[in-house]
Amino acid sequence: MRRESQGAVAAGLALALSMLCGCGGSVERQAAAMTGGEPGRGKGLVRKYGCESCHTIPGVSGADGTIGPPLDGIAKRAYLAGRLPNEPQNMIRWIRDPQAIEPGSAMPEMGVGEQDGRDIAAFLYTLR
Ligand code: HEC
Repeated sequence: MRRESQGAVAAGLALALSMLCGCGGSVERQAAAMTGGEPGRGKGLVRKYGCESCHTIPGVSGADGTIGPPLDGIAKRAYLAGRLPNEPQNMIRWIRDPQAIEPGSAMPEMGVGEQDGRDIAAFLYTLR
């Protein structure tokens, strides 16, 4: 099994477990378990990659872009970009390479690495 798919299985398991016992603790801890990322680091990376130029993102100063949809409550949305079930591995895939999923989307591929993608996804899953 490739490492990436093992990670996806682990993230899925963590999600299933956290939903089953409902005991995950803080929102941050749950988001970290779902993605294998650090929400606090992801918040900083959102600025580094310039996501705020297109998205309005709560808690990120200056993030008032209107080109893409606002990301408040993204943790609760059923679909990402209207087509991908909102699961951790899909969120990470979308952040890393939206063009592979939706060629021609206004959201560009920004060269987000594997760990950065996990950290950003972890931060986004704190936005409920
Ligand atoms: C140049 C503008 C632009 C930039 C920069 C950008 N996005 Fe987007 N983003 C979009 C657009 C447009 C969509 C809607 C795509 C669609 O629905 O087809 C989108 C969709 C999304 C979605 C799905 C939202 C939903 O409600 O379904 C997420 C999550 C997201 N972007 C996160 C990010 C993150 C994280 C970054 C930075 C790493 C980023 N975006 C950078 C334009 C951008």
